[in-house]
Formats: sequence, C-alpha cells, structure tokens
Amino acid sequence: MTKLVETKVQSGICLITLKNPPVNALNYEVRGALEAAVRAANDNPQMRAIVLLGEGRCFSGGADIKEFGKPRIKPFLTDLCNQLEACSKPVIAAIHGVAVGGGTELSLGCHYRIGDESARIGLPEVKLGQIPGAGGAQRLPRVIGFAPALDVILSGDQVSARRAKDLGFFDEIVSNDIAAAALEFALLLVAKGQGPRPTRNIGVDAEAGAQAIAEARAKLAKSSRGLVAPGKCVDAVERALKMPIDEALTEDRKSFDELTTSEQGRAQRHLFFAQRLAEKLQQAPQAGIRFEVKRVGIVGCGTMGRGIAASVASGGFEVVVVENDAERLHAGLSEIQRLALGRKTDTGASVNAALRVTGAQQLSALVDVDVVIEAAFEDMKLKKEIFAALSGICKRDAILATNTSTLDINEIASVTANPSRVVGAHFFSPAHANKLLEIIRGYNSSPEVLAAMGSLAKRINKIPVIVGVCPGFVGNRMLYAYRSQAEFMLEEGALPQDVDGAIGKFGFLMGPFAVGDLSGLDVGYRARKQQTLLNPSPARYSSTIADRIVEMGRLGQKTSKGWYRYEEGSRKPFPDEEVAQVIENVSKEHGIRRRQISEDEIRDRCIYALINEGARILGEGVAQRPSDIDIIWTVGYGFPVGKGGPMFYADQLGLGTVLDALIRLRQAHGDELQPAPLLKRLVEENRQFSDLNT
Ligand code: COA
Repeated sequence: MTKLVETKVQSGICLITLKNPPVNALNYEVRGALEAAVRAANDNPQMRAIVLLGEGRCFSGGADIKEFGKPRIKPFLTDLCNQLEACSKPVIAAIHGVAVGGGTELSLGCHYRIGDESARIGLPEVKLGQIPGAGGAQRLPRVIGFAPALDVILSGDQVSARRAKDLGFFDEIVSNDIAAAALEFALLLVAKGQGPRPTRNIGVDAEAGAQAIAEARAKLAKSSRGLVAPGKCVDAVERALKMPIDEALTEDRKSFDELTTSEQGRAQRHLFFAQRLAEKLQQAPQAGIRFEVKRVGIVGCGTMGRGIAASVASGGFEVVVVENDAERLHAGLSEIQRLALGRKTDTGASVNAALRVTGAQQLSALVDVDVVIEAAFEDMKLKKEIFAALSGICKRDAILATNTSTLDINEIASVTANPSRVVGAHFFSPAHANKLLEIIRGYNSSPEVLAAMGSLAKRINKIPVIVGVCPGFVGNRMLYAYRSQAEFMLEEGALPQDVDGAIGKFGFLMGPFAVGDLSGLDVGYRARKQQTLLNPSPARYSSTIADRIVEMGRLGQKTSKGWYRYEEGSRKPFPDEEVAQVIENVSKEHGIRRRQISEDEIRDRCIYALINEGARILGEGVAQRPSDIDIIWTVGYGFPVGKGGPMFYADQLGLGTVLDALIRLRQAHGDELQPAPLLKRLVEENRQFSDLNT
C-alpha cells in the first residue's frame, strides 16, 4: 500500500507530506499516519522544525465527508490539531491550492502558515450543514479577529492567498515552489531562534468579539432561511470568548456530531456528492480525451447572450460576440463589460474580463472558436439556419451549443455536418448570476463534448447537470407541474399571497408567483402561445389567469405590476385588488365555487406535483438520477437546501407516503396528480429514489 503520509528530512527540518489523492482528505488512516509522523518528528532531537505539506493539487480538502455520520475512529482531527499546536519545535503549514475545512483547521493548529499564490483557505462546513468542528471556530478568530472569522465561517467561501495574508492568516506568500519556500522559511525561523507560537495563546479582543457576534446574529435572523448550522457556527465562535479553549473544543465536537446526524446535515451532504455526480455520464465511460477550450463564440446579444458572454469572459476565456444589429451589439458589449467586471470570483477577487471580449456582425468571425454558444431567439427555424451556417464556418471539432429552454436539440443537430458536436446549454436567467447550467445531451452528443461542456461550466462558476431532451428539459418541466397546481388553486379559491406564503413556510425563498414577477411573466406567456411547453393534461388549462394578467400589461417587476404591485424602486410585493378581481372573474367563468384552501393543501399539491413530475422524468430517462434533479431544484429554483431537493425529501417522507398522498390528491383534484409509474414501481419493490443514484 502506498504511504498516506511521507516524511523527509532536509537540513534538520522534517517535511511531512499528505498523500491521499485527489484532495488529501483527512480520513482516519491519514490521521493515524499523520499523528505518528508528527510524534516521531517531535520526539526526535535531531529535528529542528516540522513542515506540513500536501501532495498533488492541494494541501487538503479537509475531513473525509464520507466518514460523517459513521462511528468516529481515533485519532480525531481535534486531537491532531492540538498535537501540532503542542509540539516543542516550530510547526509550519505550507499551503498550495486549497486548504479547506479540516485543511484550514490543521494549518491553524500549526504555529506558522505560508502559502503560494494558488493557496485558498476556507471553512465550508456551513454548506454541509455543519460547524467547523476541529478547532476552526476557536482558532480562526484568534488569528484573524472575530468579524473576519465570522465572515469566513458563515459564508463558507474560499479566501484567496492575498486576502488571507491581509487578514493575518498567512505569515508569508511565496512565489517559488512551496516545498522549497517552506524549507527556507523553517531554516530562517530556526536561525532566528523563533520557537513554537501556539494559536491558543493568542489573546482575544472581548469587546470587538461580542460586537461581531451580535452583528452576525442580527444578520442571521434575516437570512438563515430555517437552516440550523449558521446559528450553531455563531454559538461556536462565541465559545472562544466565553470558555477555555479545551472546553470549547469539546462543545464544538458535540455540536458537530449533533449536526452530522440531523436531517439538514444529511441533506446538505447529499447535495455535496450529488453536485459532483451531476456532470458525469451514468453509463458511458468518462471521456478520456481532454478538449481544450480557449476561445468561445456567443451568437446573439439579447439579455441571455449578454449574461452568458459575461460569465464566459469572467472565466478567463476569450469571447467573440456575434450580433447582426450594430446598435444592439454596441449596447451589448458595454453591458457585458459591466456585468463581467461587477462579478466576483469565488475567491473574492474581482474579475478583469473586459479586455477579452470582442464583437462582430457576421458569423464568419467564429471561424476559429472552440465552442459556440448560440443565444438567439427561441425559434426553431432561426436556430436551424444559424446551426447550418455554423456547421460550414466553424472548425470541424468545434462544439456547437444552443441555449434553449424548450427546443429539441436533435432537430437542431440534424442540420449540421457533425451532430456529435452539438449539445444544449440551458442557462438560467439572469445568466451571469444564476449558477445552474443544464447541459442537454442530444442522441448523438459525444461523451467528450459533454465532458468539455462540464469543465467549461465549472470554469465559469456554474454547476453543470447533464439531462436529456424533452420539452422544458428537467427544471422547467417540473416547474410547469408545480406551477400548474399553484394556478389551479388560484381558480379554486387561493390568492397569490396565500400560495407564496405556504411555499415560503416550506422553505423556498420565494413562492411561484413572486418568482414569476421577478423573471417576467411575458416569457412564459410567449412560450404558451407557441405551445412549446408540454401540457400533460390538455383537459385542464392552468394559465387562464396568468394569460389575462399579461394581457393587461402586467409583466412583473419590470412593469411594477404582475401578480403583485410594486412601489417605485422597491421589490417588495403588495397584494393587488385588481389581480384578485381577475382571479374571481376566472373562477366564475369556469363555474368554480371558490373555497378556503389551507396551507397544507397548497404545500402538498405543489410539492407532491413536483416530486411526481421528477419521478416521471426519471422513469423516461430524461434525468440520469434523482440526485441530479435535487441539484437542479436547489441550485436553480430555490428548493430549500436543508431538505436536500425534492427527490431526497421524498425519500425522507417515505415513498409509500408520497404515493398514498398522490392517490388521495388525484381523487380530489384531478388527473394532473396521477402517480408516476416509477413511483408506483419503487413502492412495490420497497426501494427509494436514492437507490438509483449511481
Ligand atoms: N471528503 C471526501 N471526498 C472529498 C472531499 C472531502 N472533504 N473533498 C473532495 N472530495 C472528493 C469529491 O467528492 C470528488 O470525488 P469524485 O472525483 O469521486 O467525484 C473529488 O474529491 C474531487 O473533488 P472536486 O470537488 O471535484 O474537486 P475540486 O478541485 O473542484 O474541489 C475542493 C476541491 C476540496 C475545494 C472541494 O472538493 C471541496 O470543497 N470539498 C469539500 C471541502 C469541505 O467541505 N470540507 C469540510 C469537511 S470538514
């Protein structure tokens, strides 16, 4: 077996390297080997200092998440950090790439920290429904102060090397090889006679700490959306003020264990692994050949084209935007610069992307691009003309992607010479900010093309999910089922604020009607008029009221009127009597006697419809696995992350319960809620959705 931790000695400095690819996760075997290596180095009088390094792409991705929720095996990470801190000779963490979670905690146990330019630190535990449980909450405030530490812990975001140095986390940022730099740093410490510098001995500023904690609590009261972990993180940091460190560490450990087995903890861990699976093909092997993307062409400079171009440019790619209308192109290019420059990367650095974007009026400008993302109007004839032209202009192996939310990729691919290079790229509005990207796989899209699109997506800070072709693909098709129930309930007795209120209580940031107003009601209206979206039950049309609202010129926030009314300069929705009147008229015209609809009914009809459509889509093979659907709905549509996505949530409820509810709801409210065949089958076989997550 290869060694998980390697020790080398140079000039009396002991270099200990973590070797657990791909990210040096700190599983129990690594911890055991590290403990032994540190003990040996500390006990050896020949060693004058100890350096901790990571092999491969990073220092460490932290505790092994696969171990969470299982019985814990010693040595614990907390003990290891204490051991490093207690060493009698200086211990230096030398960081390249990421040191996150347990990686950052390990480095905080060390006496000194240096990093190279690629270094990024962070405590992302809150994103897993956790607190930093191995001392991060105690040591980070001591090193960088309470307010910055709370920012790092509550955001869970990575911090760049430069920023971490400014905050006082790093002693030095180096530009040469990290191992050589660490050796130099250690020798200098020894030469200067600088010894251990235990983090626990750093004093805390009680007044500043108390203020930062009060501010963090006030902020959370408005933004934690029912998640438990953020509040527990603040409690943990507060312990740094209130109790001796060893006591605080014991409490942190207890809190960590409680969160690990909580529903939210399990849900958020599920989403971590789901996200990494969603860009992988289930059956075909991952493409071996890497396709390098440098130049990207964007066709169309409307709202979507601009947002996509801004995202792609800020990922570091050269971008050529083609738009035949000169005025539109000119306006678009400056908007793209504004959007791209306004973006921050996940390391907190500002993006300098503007200079790499150029414009052209002819498709011939795309002759040497590696990928084209077409973002023209949602019109099959137009898209086919563009793709036929691109097929003749672009390099034979260029990837041709269409940004569509409804159209059949296979039909578009059919007009090209090489359909294996054609794929869908469904960006979500606003495209520069929304992180979801559905990569639509046509019948002929090659695995290599899908893999290249997946890595392009990650470079531009999107979360890619591979899905198949059907009207609306996965996300919008499910949205249609969910929203149809919401709209039916308006006809039957509810008002938009009733539905949005019940959905908000379930945990969504916004209900379907407030979301509609935000994204613009005319988009769905146009799609309905073109009949491009599926209506699974033509017997009952759900959008009579929605159509009327649009026809009155109420297009949502952009016209200050939609399902709600909005006051000048505000996004706060107010119920509107005019809308209530339209709703009542439609109920009357349809001969429906309005009734009181309970919050439970609203929640059940919307959420069960969502789960049921997800099951239908899975049964048809349009989504590869249930966990992909969970990513789509938590990332793109605001499904509460603490519930893990609709399919994970269904498993928690029990599929038998879901099926029984759908049978009951169908009897009461119509065939749109007819249980999906896959759901019935899984219940018969006593299985759950998670059994299909491979
Ligand atoms: N435990 C277990 N597995 C981990 C892991 C961890 N802490 N961190 C990453 N992995 C696995 C991923 O599941 C993935 O596995 P796969 O290839 O089978 O899909 C692989 O390592 C690579 O991770 P990926 O996220 O694709 O690589 P990246 O270079 O984009 O990002 C990290 C690397 C470390 C930044 C990212 O994986 C991450 O944020 N990890 C979680 C860190 C964390 O929350 N730690 C807290 C635990 S205390």
